[in-house]
Amino acid sequence: MSAIIPINSLTTPLPLDELFESCAPLEIEIGCGKGRFLTTRAQKNPQLRYLGIERMRARVGRVEKKIKRLNLKNVRILRLEAFYTFYYLLPVRSVRTVYVFFPDPWPKRHHRGRRLFEPLFLDTLCARLEVGGTIQIATDHAEYFTKIRETFAADTRFIETEAMERAPDEQTEFEHIFRSQGLAIGQCAYQLCDTPIPHLPPLTIPPEMEPRANA
Ligand SMILES: C[S@@+](CC[C@H](N)C(=O)[O-])C[C@H]1O[C@@H](n2cnc3c(N)ncnc32)[C@H](O)[C@@H]1O
Repeated sequence: MSAIIPINSLTTPLPLDELFESCAPLEIEIGCGKGRFLTTRAQKNPQLRYLGIERMRARVGRVEKKIKRLNLKNVRILRLEAFYTFYYLLPVRSVRTVYVFFPDPWPKRHHRGRRLFEPLFLDTLCARLEVGGTIQIATDHAEYFTKIRETFAADTRFIETEAMERAPDEQTEFEHIFRSQGLAIGQCAYQLCDTPIPHLPPLTIPPEMEPRANA
C-alpha cells in the first residue's frame, strides 16, 4: 500500500482510524518538504501516528520513497493544500501536535494574503487540535516571525509554550541550509487552551481566485 493518502472526497473528514494501523495520537507536519523531520520522528516514535501535508508532487514522491525504504507503518502523506486540509478534511480535535518549519514567507506585500498564519488558520487550529495540543513553528524570516507571534498573542485561545529543539538528525532540509549559512532562526510554540470549538463556515472564493476559462 502506498503511504500517499488517496483523496476520495474534498469535503468529508479523513477516516484517520482507517488510514493508520493504530488509533495513537496524531502529529502533523505542514509543508514536510522532502520528509527528513517527518520520517526521522516517525522512526523514533512508533507509538505515534504522523501525517505529512505537502503540496508539491515531486516532494511527496520523495517522502513516499523514504517511508517505504524505512518500512515505516505509522506515517502517511497527503498531497494537498494545508489550510484547506485543516479547514475541511481533519476531524474535530484530532491532532496532538502540528509542526510548521520554514513556511513560505511570501515576502512581497501583495502576496501576503497567501501566508498560512492568518487569523482564520488559527480558527482551524482551534477546531482540529486537541485541548492542550501544540503547534511548533520555526522560520528564518524575521518579519514573518514577528507577525506570527503577534497573531498568536492576539488570540487568547492559545498560550505560548516552550519551542522544541530538534536533534541534528531531525533538522529539516531548509534548517540544515540556513544553519550552515549562520542565519538566525526564530522558533516559537503555542498550546491550545480549553476553549469552545469554533464554527467554520463554508469558505467563499474571492472573485480574483475564480477559475477563468482562458486562464
Ligand atoms: C520553504 S519549504 C520548507 C520545507 C521543509 N519544511 C523544510 O524545512 O525543509 C516550504 C514547503 O512547504 C510546502 N508548502 C508551502 N505552503 C503549503 C501549503 N499551503 N500547503 C501544503 N504545502 C505547502 C512547499 O511546497 C514546500 O515544500
